Amino acid sequence: MKRIAVYPGTFDPVTCGHLDLIARARTRFDRLVVAILGNEDKRPMFTVEERAAFLREAVAAWPDVEVDTFEGLLVDYARRVGATVILRGLRAISDFEYELQMAMMNRRLAPELETVFLMPSEAYSYVSSRLVREVARLGGSVEGIVPDAVARALSLRRAEGF
Ligand code: PNS
Repeated sequence: MKRIAVYPGTFDPVTCGHLDLIARARTRFDRLVVAILGNEDKRPMFTVEERAAFLREAVAAWPDVEVDTFEGLLVDYARRVGATVILRGLRAISDFEYELQMAMMNRRLAPELETVFLMPSEAYSYVSSRLVREVARLGGSVEGIVPDAVARALSLRRAEGF
């Protein structure tokens, strides 16, 4: 049986922290599906298509990593793709409460799925998509903490007065 893991998130935008986690996880599963939540309720800065394009470019060298989008319940999506693991990153203790709640709710909904946490490199322990968006919007440099294509797209957004 193939071991398939789903790594869900908003990825608005993908950061080097996300990529670090994907790099750590991908060799431990037969297939890793990075699943971008397409729900526009969160009013993302980038459309789901843009977020998927950034991610596809960033993982292009890794044939065992797939990028997809989903809507609705994560557990339904995970079952559809045949995953047995939900992968999430834990940067600091502050992530823990939210992650624990999600993991327990997902376990209640789908007991056969296991949530597995990995820690990204400490070099990215402070990096979040929210802070990246804020820094970029205010004209700060996000070089080295997001892929180059994302950094370029963020400066374009700033130039457009986003
Ligand atoms: O990157 P994020 O915003 O922390 O990711 C959150 C995400 C997408 C994993 C979570 O919001 C989610 O799974 N949403 C799908 C809807 C769902 O299943 N909700 C119940 C989760 S307990």
